[in-house]
Amino acid sequence: MDSFLYHTLYFKKNYNIMQSVLRKILVTCALPYANGSIHIGHMLEHIQADIWVRYHRMHGHEVWFVSADDAHGTAVMLKSEDLGISSNELIKKMRKEHQRDFLSFKISHDNYYSTHSLENLYLSRKIFTCLNEKGFIKEKNIVQFYDNIKKIFLPDRFIKGTCPICKSKNQYGDNCEICSATYEPLDLINPISVISGKKPILKNTKHLYFDLPFFSEMLKKWIHSGVLEPSVIKKTEEWFKEGLKSWGISRDAPYFGFKIPKHSDKYFYVWLDAPIGYMSAFKNLCFKNTKLNFNEFWDKKSHCELYHFIGKDIIYFHTLFWPSILEASSFRKPSGIFVHGYLTMNGLKLSKSRGALIKASNWIKCFDSDSLRYYYASKLSNKVHDIEINLKDFVWKINSDIVNKLVNLASRNASFINKYFNGYLSKKLSNIKLYEDFVNTSSNIAMFLENREFSFVVRESMRLLDVANQYINEKKPWKIEKTEKNIVELQKICTMGINLFRIVMIFLKPITPDLANKTEFFLNTTLTWDSIKKPLLSHKINKFTPLYERIDIKKIYELIELCRE
Ligand code: MSP
Ligand code: ZN
Repeated sequence: MDSFLYHTLYFKKNYNIMQSVLRKILVTCALPYANGSIHIGHMLEHIQADIWVRYHRMHGHEVWFVSADDAHGTAVMLKSEDLGISSNELIKKMRKEHQRDFLSFKISHDNYYSTHSLENLYLSRKIFTCLNEKGFIKEKNIVQFYDNIKKIFLPDRFIKGTCPICKSKNQYGDNCEICSATYEPLDLINPISVISGKKPILKNTKHLYFDLPFFSEMLKKWIHSGVLEPSVIKKTEEWFKEGLKSWGISRDAPYFGFKIPKHSDKYFYVWLDAPIGYMSAFKNLCFKNTKLNFNEFWDKKSHCELYHFIGKDIIYFHTLFWPSILEASSFRKPSGIFVHGYLTMNGLKLSKSRGALIKASNWIKCFDSDSLRYYYASKLSNKVHDIEINLKDFVWKINSDIVNKLVNLASRNASFINKYFNGYLSKKLSNIKLYEDFVNTSSNIAMFLENREFSFVVRESMRLLDVANQYINEKKPWKIEKTEKNIVELQKICTMGINLFRIVMIFLKPITPDLANKTEFFLNTTLTWDSIKKPLLSHKINKFTPLYERIDIKKIYELIELCRE
């Protein structure tokens, strides 16, 4: 069956239930590390979540959208040392930068916080104490790689060596990027410290471990409770097959993070307090907005929904550790974990370590925010597949979809309405049946948005625009003689064109908020889902000013130049 049709049928059932009640929803994006800039790979996740959030807000649901900087860990500590500033200074500076970048792409976070916060310290300690009192924390003596020059225990990512399985060189201490094997750093052949470039020594230390295996049965049930996509369930089940192991949650000094109560010189591992950062970002929001109640969203019996948008590299933290920590400390578990693939360029993951990096701040110097949002939407689904960005394809798609199809439909009709009718739309439409056809697509579009099938929203919107433009092509308003007899028909045809444009813009509003804003001014009305059924008639629109500017292909070269710096 055509997958388009399949989704239409599959989601119709859920959709009706979902829309009938007003929901209270908390949405999060994974917390970007504070040791680097936001790049357009991070932005994929925030744009995906933001489209979903804006869509639900359009339906009147109460949606809170939070994220934060992940401020702790060895990487942040070493980066600040490199820069000759304190870790505190670094994370303050980065948070400001990150907030600026997200705003520039119109990401509508209600709060963008930091894991290095009082709320997070309080909640991390509270949760740890709870786990400890319930007997879920055990101490173990272990040996670990230690950089004797830098005097620091080495995190897995700071050890490189030869993969013990496939013998590929230059692999990280925890997994091989060539054969995808996971292993212990001690298994690595010829290990080298990434920090000093020297061979690390083995050193004894004591660490705290969380009893993850205790939660196996709960997790097995939970992953099948409708919270994960089938491919994510499958991935998680692979870890069950390997057998869950207890999880090290402490790190030795020197470390930038929170000290563990009653354990001198031990810190919480960054991945313990990072997801708790979801809670503390919301707690801080409750402090700013006194009408909000933290417990209503996080209590074990909460009726609110909680969704985490994440990338495929951090699935196990969110499908194994996080729900277990929440269960163990008697908080509610997520209603859904929405996993996306990587943004790739020429097949390579965009990342700091791999060089193929386009900073969000550079991108926005060359292009507007709606264009990237639209391009991503045109490729996004609820599956975990990677998304390849191709700059020429990007420019071509924006110009052909947004300029040639969407904005052109508005401009060609508006010019007549402005010129001959003083901006007034007619009393009637020229083709009610066609208008109704457009209205009838709205429930499918809504389902696609609800189910994060954004590529279908774009595809269907473009199909509708083709129909609308074809209609205008056939009616040829530019050929109609402006006689008293014909003028009424001319007004009706152009009113029809404007109304079809309006419907498509309602569908695209969560995807292209800037264009939607300009359209609202131009149409002199708010684009709401409820208003789709009722056409805009006998209504004065504003003078048409270009809603969107064609992208010049030269901008690509400007961007590439900026990325070289
Ligand atoms: N700090 C952790 C997350 C803690 S959440 C409690 C982290 N940070 S990160 O900066 O490396 O990544 C943040 C998010 O961006 C992750 O969901 C990650 O998958 C996503 N992406 C990072 N690079 C990406 C691409 N190239 N493409 C798509 N998403 C990418 O992990
Ligand atoms: Zn390997």
